[in-house]
Amino acid sequence: MRNILAFGLVGLLAGPAFAADMVPMTRDNGAPVGDNQNSKVAGPEGPVVLEDNALIEKLARFDRERIPERVVHARGTGAQGVFVTSEDFSKYSKASVLGTPGKETPVLVRFSTVMNYRGSPEAARDPRGFAVKFYTDQGNWDIVGINEPVFFIRDAIKFPDFVHANKPAAVTNLQDPNNAFDFFSRVPESTHMLTQLYTDTIGMPASYRTMDGYGVHAFRLVNAKGQQVFAKFHWKSQQGLKGLTLEQMRTTDTDYATKDLYANIVAGNFPKWDLYVQLMTPEEVEKLSYDGFDDTKVWSGVPEVKVGTMTLNKVPANYFEYTEEAAFAPSNLIPGIEPSPDRMLQGRLFAYADTQRYRLGVNYEELPANRPLVQVANNNQDGAMQSVPRTGNTNFDPTNVPGQPAEQPAFRYAQYKVDGMTQTKAIDKQENFRQAGEFYRALSKVEQDDLIKNLAADLGQVKNEQVKDIMVSHFYRADKDYGTRLAAAAKADIKDVEAMADH
Ligand code: HEM
Repeated sequence: MRNILAFGLVGLLAGPAFAADMVPMTRDNGAPVGDNQNSKVAGPEGPVVLEDNALIEKLARFDRERIPERVVHARGTGAQGVFVTSEDFSKYSKASVLGTPGKETPVLVRFSTVMNYRGSPEAARDPRGFAVKFYTDQGNWDIVGINEPVFFIRDAIKFPDFVHANKPAAVTNLQDPNNAFDFFSRVPESTHMLTQLYTDTIGMPASYRTMDGYGVHAFRLVNAKGQQVFAKFHWKSQQGLKGLTLEQMRTTDTDYATKDLYANIVAGNFPKWDLYVQLMTPEEVEKLSYDGFDDTKVWSGVPEVKVGTMTLNKVPANYFEYTEEAAFAPSNLIPGIEPSPDRMLQGRLFAYADTQRYRLGVNYEELPANRPLVQVANNNQDGAMQSVPRTGNTNFDPTNVPGQPAEQPAFRYAQYKVDGMTQTKAIDKQENFRQAGEFYRALSKVEQDDLIKNLAADLGQVKNEQVKDIMVSHFYRADKDYGTRLAAAAKADIKDVEAMADH
């Protein structure tokens, strides 16, 4: 009532009068802003004066609101929650987050699509990013995964080319299946991932809630005695898996996934995922017919052990702070979880923190979304926007000054043997098609029909007949029925396909 009365004629012209329940508006230097509706002018008909510092600052800040979008996974949605451990996994890993049943660890999750821009439609034929940051009592641990258990390529050196071929094209700025399949036709290891991606249930999730997540790579778990075992992580949705058909995908709301996730969290219908782990000893990995560190492969037949459950229960208070500024990285590992020799993972260990130093600045780990709950104590210092207070002269180590950060020998990296000549050479056990065929044959008839329809819709647009035939020959090599049906649906030449597959 008081506010309404405060609007006299003057109030209508100049904005509301200040009331007791309002906060004084200030400039960024803390000085009061007197008028936030009218610029300072040189007389009633005169120009705006440069000395209107409040105006200049407001426009200058606005001009700089955008930061570079992620080079991939630009369109995303963040949510917060908690991970509750269900098993004592200390036999395999000294990571405390996996050690004590009932232990609660806060998490930040960011779901995303991969190839298109920050404001692009969410219903894209694209993997979905499934990045989880655990704020553990040993530092932040990130599983930066996707909703398929495998990936398109197996060596980081191919990643920029893979992305260029799949992102909006250099000339038209539109995604073009001609470029994507030109690339994939030369990369037969993509057959398994493409087969999963073009299904309805896995490839086109009906919501972020109704999809699984996978760490994809193997990681090295290390226990307190230094014993090692390799592990793959799998988030299983308690909501079950649900996909969209091609027709539903084409007509769905452009923001369907964010709307669904946030509406459910706000309504108290919190989505949950159970975290499962597969384990293999180095000797078991060695015996596989394929390379166990090849991220185009699943570890089929290896049992999964449940280690905990994640619940998403909060829409972050601010999109920019918890989604744009969130920085997930496969290199954010904690004692007890180390990298495997997976050649993709090895490249990712470098690329994420590198892009984040560019995208957010060198002190990005001080931002609210990225700041660990534990104290950060080291001699890294300075750089743009350093803001955590530092005291004293001892910005070096070793030192004799008491109270300084000290290294902890108990947390040395695990030791393991490596052998052989340096080389730039593809892996030996490639098996580019077998698991794609197994996956296809395990689908129901309806799922196979949908897969072929979805793939043909994109492959059918490829103008270069040779590229199309090579692509179909890859699926033919995975499974003869799959390739034959796809050749008919995408109008590829079955004789060429068979000849190529025979090679
Ligand atoms: C060598 C191969 C790869 C490279 C070089 C690479 C690089 C990148 C880069 C530069 C970003 C942007 C990060 C940022 O700006 O914060 C990113 C995001 C992401 N990548 Fe990768 N990537 C690779 C492979 C993969 C694989 C195999 C997966 C899944 C297993 C994956 C999942 C993700 C996810 C989920 C995000 C989004 C994280 C977020 O929500 O902020 N990437 N990747």
